[in-house]
Amino acid sequence: MWNERYASEEYMYGTEPNTFLAEHASMLKGPVLSLAEGEGRNAVFLASQGLDVHGVDSSEVGLAKAQALAQKKGVQIQTEVADLASFEPKENHYGSVISIFAHLPGTIRQRLYPLVEKSLKPGGLFLMEAYTEEQLPRKTGGPKNLDMLMSKAKIEHDFANYEPVLLRVLEREVHEGQLHTGLASVIQFIGRKKA
Ligand SMILES: C[S@@+](CC[C@H](N)C(=O)[O-])C[C@H]1O[C@@H](n2cnc3c(N)ncnc32)[C@H](O)[C@@H]1O
Repeated sequence: MWNERYASEEYMYGTEPNTFLAEHASMLKGPVLSLAEGEGRNAVFLASQGLDVHGVDSSEVGLAKAQALAQKKGVQIQTEVADLASFEPKENHYGSVISIFAHLPGTIRQRLYPLVEKSLKPGGLFLMEAYTEEQLPRKTGGPKNLDMLMSKAKIEHDFANYEPVLLRVLEREVHEGQLHTGLASVIQFIGRKKA
């Protein structure tokens, strides 16, 4: 499905970074693991800020576009085609992990997030922006599947061991490519792995 979606030359989520990520990028330390990186807009931006980035996604078409974008912008990013349902990140390795609209079924999240926590160095940051469950009836972006949408309760449960730095639900205009197109309910989270 994602390979088909990414098949055209156009960047479906644009080539500019997610705005929440861009606003908080100065907090992030490398190396950065980007979950479900897609076509590279966020990895390329972080690389342009001097960070080493490892972008993982199951779409080889998306990651080929990510590498093309990196080349065009004159930066290097590491990409890996992998299914997050079975991906095993390196332990105690990353300064930050980001998850931008990386909507996954609960079964995958429950396996992945404990591994993500182990993959962070002590003091490392996890940064997420996702659509909330309130986004389900809206036509401005996000999966049409309640299980894949996020909520405060899901984040508080999944990231209970982290020191919360920021956790907020808000309505904001999301204009990031042709698939994220207007007023949306999002949740934004930054958590610090305890030392
Ligand atoms: C909404 S896009 C977001 C892409 C990117 N994070 C961005 O903000 O531009 C969701 C991405 O999740 C990826 N994805 C979905 N399920 C996945 C899985 N099980 N393993 C790895 N990637 C997955 C898709 O290939 C797609 O690139």
